[in-house]
Amino acid sequence: MSDAGSGGKSGRKAGGAKAGGAKAGGGGREGPHGLKVRVKTAGKRSVASTRWLERQLNDPYVARAKREGYRSRAAYKLIEIDDKYKLFKPGQRVVDLGAAPGGWSQVAARKVGVEAGRGRVVGIDLLDIEPIPGVVFEQLDFLSPEAPERLVAMLGGPADVVMSDMAANATGHKKTDHLKIMGLAETAIDFARQVLAPGGIFLAKVLQGGTESSLLADLKRDFATVRHVKPAASRADSAELYVLATGFRGRAKDDAQDSEETR
Ligand SMILES: C[S@@+](CC[C@H](N)C(=O)[O-])C[C@H]1O[C@@H](n2cnc3c(N)ncnc32)[C@H](O)[C@@H]1O
Repeated sequence: MSDAGSGGKSGRKAGGAKAGGAKAGGGGREGPHGLKVRVKTAGKRSVASTRWLERQLNDPYVARAKREGYRSRAAYKLIEIDDKYKLFKPGQRVVDLGAAPGGWSQVAARKVGVEAGRGRVVGIDLLDIEPIPGVVFEQLDFLSPEAPERLVAMLGGPADVVMSDMAANATGHKKTDHLKIMGLAETAIDFARQVLAPGGIFLAKVLQGGTESSLLADLKRDFATVRHVKPAASRADSAELYVLATGFRGRAKDDAQDSEETR
């Protein structure tokens, strides 16, 4: 995951020259403080991880997340999508799939008002997270058979928003990575269809080139509008984008349609 957290890859802390041989100055693109930070390849650090660290140190969203108390630069992707499409309202129930380290849950919690006792945000991830006030979290594999039932119990009622930023660890093999991420998105859609209230919203990370036509057709059948969105905070050189489906038509109608089709 390229941008899971301002805390970053393998739990390393990005920020400050202490991150290891980082040096401000020189030419090139400027960092958040106006100077590009260069990182020397040192000791056991590979070229890839040196590049990753340099990118983190020079990323304005990483600096902003640190300043504003968000656990991930990914938080700004959700903020930007919400600014444009108005996903959240106070008092809503929200599911966050692939929540670690917690940036999206922080955003949703703030928007629905969990700290003021309104709404509910539930999240799961393969990884554990530091608790977020008001957010119900469990360390759980979404692909495990017990996950849907656990999530339903955690929610305590129909969801208004199901969002998934899940991404499996990249293998470097393009086709495999594509299949893995699309598999996660498809499972998330199946789950959303079970738990969303009518009018509900589904948002999931997919890859450019991209959302299989069968998956889009499914979404179009179940939701009033379906679109792809690429927020500014999503790196331009990343194939990542999001599918946003709004206006869930409701389960009863869907089930009725299914039984029509199998007749
Ligand atoms: C890009 S990160 C999510 C960042 C998060 N939205 C934030 O703002 O902090 C993707 C997450 O998906 C999780 N993930 C991948 N596969 C998963 C699965 N099968 N079940 C649960 N979480 C999964 C990873 O562990 C990882 O933490």
